[in-house]
Amino acid sequence: MHTELCDKLGIDLPIFAFTHCRDVVAAVSQAGGFGVLGAVGFTPEQLEIECKWIDEHVGDKPYGVDIVIPGKYEGMGEIDPEKLEEQLRALIPEQHREFASKLLADHGVPEMPADERHHELLGWTAATATPQVEVALQHDKVRLIANALGTPPEDVIQKIHDAGRLVSALCGRPEQALKHKQAGIDIIIAQGYEGGGHTGEIGSVVLWPQVIKAVAPTPVLAAGGIGSGDQIAAALAMGAQGVWTGSLWLTVREAESPPAQMDSYLGASSRDTVRSRSYTGKPCRMLRNEWTDAWEGAESPGYLGMPLQGMVTMDAIARTHRYADKAQSVAFNPVGQVVGMMNEVRTVREVIYKLSEEYIEATERIQQLAP
Ligand SMILES: Cc1cc2nc3c(=O)[nH]c(=O)nc-3n(C[C@H](O)[C@H](O)[C@H](O)COP(=O)(O)O)c2cc1C
Repeated sequence: MHTELCDKLGIDLPIFAFTHCRDVVAAVSQAGGFGVLGAVGFTPEQLEIECKWIDEHVGDKPYGVDIVIPGKYEGMGEIDPEKLEEQLRALIPEQHREFASKLLADHGVPEMPADERHHELLGWTAATATPQVEVALQHDKVRLIANALGTPPEDVIQKIHDAGRLVSALCGRPEQALKHKQAGIDIIIAQGYEGGGHTGEIGSVVLWPQVIKAVAPTPVLAAGGIGSGDQIAAALAMGAQGVWTGSLWLTVREAESPPAQMDSYLGASSRDTVRSRSYTGKPCRMLRNEWTDAWEGAESPGYLGMPLQGMVTMDAIARTHRYADKAQSVAFNPVGQVVGMMNEVRTVREVIYKLSEEYIEATERIQQLAP
């Protein structure tokens, strides 16, 4: 399954793995794929530590860093992170904080210890993500910067290109893909409805060929719902240059998901996810639970936009992660519909091996059908 993009990035397999866990990034790249570290939850100082660790554990393999600069968000235009945080905090109604806080208290989720609290506004804006890009570019093995939720600003694209790296961006519609292409994005990631995290309304099998056709010859990675090698074969058969996966890596042995969260994922079926705005303000696929239901319920104050809703729920994300065993019914469990295929804990190497094996079997099946 070697494609042109593999040569461009110096990798063996066009399997891209989005993850928040540095161990998974290093293991995927070491296994011949391309690990991408999700930076949204890190301060620039923390990101520096993560990248340094990956550099030391990835051998001579490349990896990527993913940032989030949405195309539209509250406070756009302000580039000083501290001023922006202050400005945004003033826009949050107390009612939303009280609702979130009561929901956690009613479910017996303990408060965070005072010394573990952190900023409410992490990398969800140009102001907070640009310093992350600067950190990432200091690391030679970072060969790709990916952006979620919009076309990154011109100066960010320029900065990445000036440093000799590639830029990719996610999209959920062919129109967004064209906008990315026009802005000079090198690799377009077409993510279908079934994917984990923020996702649009078009299913993968309908979206991928439309995006591939719309932006040709720009390389496209197929994302959303991929959990097996035959799905990779389907994506490459449609003309994708590789696949971009996320959910699959939440249940590998190297992942740092707390055991209770791992159990939630392993026990879930493909019907157990919902696209909900309750954690970040934009539709994000996650396991449905009492938290997602409550924000849809009669007493809900409604959702705030991005990044305000995320500022309200940052504390809940930290608390439900820290006390995962007590918080299963209200935890933030972002994952795609492919969760129904994630039924056992395997190592990264085992997952990559299985994907490759299934890919070969699928291509052999197709060859047997050839006239
Ligand atoms: C837990 C989780 C968190 C995610 N966070 C981000 C993110 O911060 N930035 C991003 O570009 N994509 C994010 N995504 C989306 C992935 O990059 C990827 O497009 C998606 O997982 C592909 O669909 P799949 O989950 O079916 O493999 C996230 C996905 C998951 C499962």
